[in-house]
Amino acid sequence: MRVTTRLIVSIVLAAALVSAGWTWFQARGERARLLEELNHRGALLAESLREAAEPLAKRADAKALARIADKFGGRRRLRGISLHAPDGKTSVSTAGLPDFSPPPRPGEAIDCGLIPGGALHRCAAAFENSPGFLAVFQDATYVDAGVREVWRRGFFRLLTQVLLITAITLWIVRFDILAPIERTAEWMRLQRAGEGRGAAPPPGGLLGSLTSEAQGLAKSLETARAAAEEEARLRHSGQSVWTAERLKEHAKERLRGRPMVVVANREPYMHVRRDGKIQVVRPASGLVSGVEPILKACGGTWIGHGAGDADRETVDAFDRVRVPPEEPRYSLRRVWITKEQEEGYYYGFANEGLWPLCHIAHARPQFRAEDWKHYHAVNRLFADAVLAEIEGVDEPCVMIQDYHFALLPRMLKEARPDARVSLFWHIPWPNPEAFGICPWQREILDGMLGADVLGFHIQAHCNNFLETVDHALECRIDWEHLSIRRGEHSTLIKSYPISVAMEEAAGPLPAKDELMRSVGAKGAILALGVDRLDYTKGIVERFLAVERFLDKNPSYIGRFVFVELGAPSRTSIPRYRDLVEEVKNEAGRINARFETKENKGWKPIVLAVGHHERTEVARWYRVADLCAVTSLHDGMNLVAKEYVAADREEPGALILSRFTGASRELRDALIVNPYDIERVADAIREAVEMEPEERRRRWESMRETVRERNIYRWGARLVDDLGRVRLVDDDKPA
Ligand code: G6P
Repeated sequence: MRVTTRLIVSIVLAAALVSAGWTWFQARGERARLLEELNHRGALLAESLREAAEPLAKRADAKALARIADKFGGRRRLRGISLHAPDGKTSVSTAGLPDFSPPPRPGEAIDCGLIPGGALHRCAAAFENSPGFLAVFQDATYVDAGVREVWRRGFFRLLTQVLLITAITLWIVRFDILAPIERTAEWMRLQRAGEGRGAAPPPGGLLGSLTSEAQGLAKSLETARAAAEEEARLRHSGQSVWTAERLKEHAKERLRGRPMVVVANREPYMHVRRDGKIQVVRPASGLVSGVEPILKACGGTWIGHGAGDADRETVDAFDRVRVPPEEPRYSLRRVWITKEQEEGYYYGFANEGLWPLCHIAHARPQFRAEDWKHYHAVNRLFADAVLAEIEGVDEPCVMIQDYHFALLPRMLKEARPDARVSLFWHIPWPNPEAFGICPWQREILDGMLGADVLGFHIQAHCNNFLETVDHALECRIDWEHLSIRRGEHSTLIKSYPISVAMEEAAGPLPAKDELMRSVGAKGAILALGVDRLDYTKGIVERFLAVERFLDKNPSYIGRFVFVELGAPSRTSIPRYRDLVEEVKNEAGRINARFETKENKGWKPIVLAVGHHERTEVARWYRVADLCAVTSLHDGMNLVAKEYVAADREEPGALILSRFTGASRELRDALIVNPYDIERVADAIREAVEMEPEERRRRWESMRETVRERNIYRWGARLVDDLGRVRLVDDDKPA
């Protein structure tokens, strides 16, 4: 039996059962009501006839009795009257009545009831002055007729219900269940056949959750297929590009199945409370963009500072939560620090001290003893969390990230000499003189040298580090193998340029106009900037270059728009707060200069300050005609690489500061000195007016670089060196 038939039959049976039960009660009530009515009427008649009829019994006067009956015969349903001796024998009666009627039951003045057979009803009343009694007979057939009527109506009601239920069920099944299933099945068939790439799934209706699961499945399928195609393509072309799958296998082999532990201050997913609901936020951070694909590919644990205001509500008893929320692949373990510690360690020492110290961006580093104390204490806190995490694991692998944890490598190594520890420094490393102004430079360098592998983005930063150590510490530097030996331990110093993963086929292009309208931007040519609002990013310099470009090329007024997606960052630090104001004022000043009546609604700079989800930023990358990265100093800058990795239809153009690590690899970008406003303005013109062929050539070359030197290669090289570390020291550099 088909499901629909089964469904209908079950619903009909249930309805019939309920209806029959209900009708049965109604019929029973009706029968009782009609009988009560008969009893009442019969008793009244018997009562009123008794006196007049009593003398007729003795005389057996049938005629007189018939007259009385006639007189009352006008009453509906009276069938006759009979008079009886005390033993029940009939003395006299009207026609058609039985010869015998049982005397009234003792104690009953008037005894009423149906006569067996059900067609007649009798009420018997004893005479008052003589023996014997009178019986009044009424027609009782209408009681059954009334009950039958109740059943008949019940049946028709049931019939109507069945028809209606069947029609509604068929309708719902057809249009709300079968149709979405058929549409989803067709959509899945197309996905399976690889024909419907990027097509949105049909609306799910009642089956919404099923559809979103199917969508997830299709996405995984698509990813797996893309990975397989990529693998096949690479195998075919003899290239050895790193992919997530390849890294996964490689890490398994190199780390011999040990779980990977990553330590980074910034957590990849923050839980925050907005409008009373818990939401997940992906922070704007190059480090997160770079490191997460590795953990997604290899699994493991990310230990980070739980900074979201709903973070505590979302972890288990071990402060862990599985992420990414939509498709968990690894664990995030949160470490809690106090507000005071955060002030000293994060805002103070890390971001007011080390950050400006390592970036040559003309902000004076602030070093406070109190901040140093907190920095030390929080490094210790994280060390305890890591040690708890790696307890019982033989030769565990710990990959520490960034300037927040300079002391952590040494702390870990002291407790667990068998651990393989790497520290990757995501920001630049300055020259020895610049670094020398840090009052705790020796402690910091010593802490860092606890690591087995110490990574920077580019060789120049490695060289600066080696020289700094040479100036500040007692140690042996092996310039040939680029390693440092301090005491019994060696540290390999090496460059690992971080990168991104190429964006997979992301479906149809977003509508550029719509996207621009969403931030109030107008213009045929769209230039894009994406940054944390940080003074190292050269945002004001970029705006000045836009102003200069329009001054020099007025034909672009009204046609060119620069959209800056700026995420507020570290706003507890005055320098960062001031920067937000400075950037806003500068954009306002430049906009006011170019606004005219003819260009109503157009402004050269649209500043969208706020948190921008990665998916949103990805849409902008796909449609922007050019992207400008003008950092005054930057370890790598992943915005440049993300733009190049975007799934676009047309080649884009990249303006890139020569003070970023990325400029060492993306040689086909328009490389600029961001302090040279004139040159950046010219680069904007160059990007806008570049011959299509030249544009394509540069674009393809940059894409090739990012494809080949991708994030999986970064992870693989680090894991490789970490796996090769010699834990038993034999006096040779690792
Ligand atoms: C840079 C640092 C990262 C940091 C990111 C965002 O990329 O190298 O360590 O996570 O900026 O900054 P935030 O202070 O918000 O973590």
